[in-house]
Amino acid sequence: MKPPIQHNPAHSRRSFIENGLKTTIITGIAGIALLPGCGNKEEDEISPPEDLMREHGILNRVLLVYDHFLKMLASSQPIPPQLLTDAANIIRTFIESYHEKQEEDFLFPRFEKAHKLTNLVQVLRAQHQQGRLITDQVLQLGKQAQISTDGDKEQLVRLLTSFIDMYRPHEAREDTILFPAIRDIVSKHEFDSLGEDFEKREHQLFGKGGFELFVDKVAGIERQLGIYDLAQFTPKL
Ligand SMILES: [Fe+2]
Ligand SMILES: [Fe+2]
Repeated sequence: MKPPIQHNPAHSRRSFIENGLKTTIITGIAGIALLPGCGNKEEDEISPPEDLMREHGILNRVLLVYDHFLKMLASSQPIPPQLLTDAANIIRTFIESYHEKQEEDFLFPRFEKAHKLTNLVQVLRAQHQQGRLITDQVLQLGKQAQISTDGDKEQLVRLLTSFIDMYRPHEAREDTILFPAIRDIVSKHEFDSLGEDFEKREHQLFGKGGFELFVDKVAGIERQLGIYDLAQFTPKL
């Protein structure tokens, strides 16, 4: 997800572009329009806020899946436990154990140390804990062969509704208040090293391409639920 931030000037983005241009000129002369490195993600840099925001994109897609489960429950359609488990496992693995852990380990302590947005951070921390408790219970329900009793269905409606109701404002507040403030409390050097810390953690947990892996996983669930095709959501006026 976050290709490495290169500190070696020889490998900086500017050098990459300059080298690419030189190569284009040389190869152009030779009649070969080849730009080495073009499309090589290793050369791009993703800033920490962009990285966190696109992880929120995956969270949002799971919230849409949860929304769809609620619609299915409201129209008495059965919820396949495996799909519920798959969706909740994306939250557990990618959001709670990775994305939120990054916020807790690398962001929140910096804001607390700087005495900035501390009330917000306190609420965000508490919501992470509540979210984990909800996911525990969703995963528990998903272990059953069927979610068929009225009690289980009512519990699932309560859990999914409270999860969605908490996380929409949670992530919106992080995107608009917390993440934009990161630059105010860290130096340029620390900002860059934050990106490296994020990348290191991602590679430790998922290898390269963790973000893409989870985008694929959520897309697979959307396909099985019939909500993958984006055009279906365009209103016909
Ligand atoms: Fe968070
Ligand atoms: Fe977040």
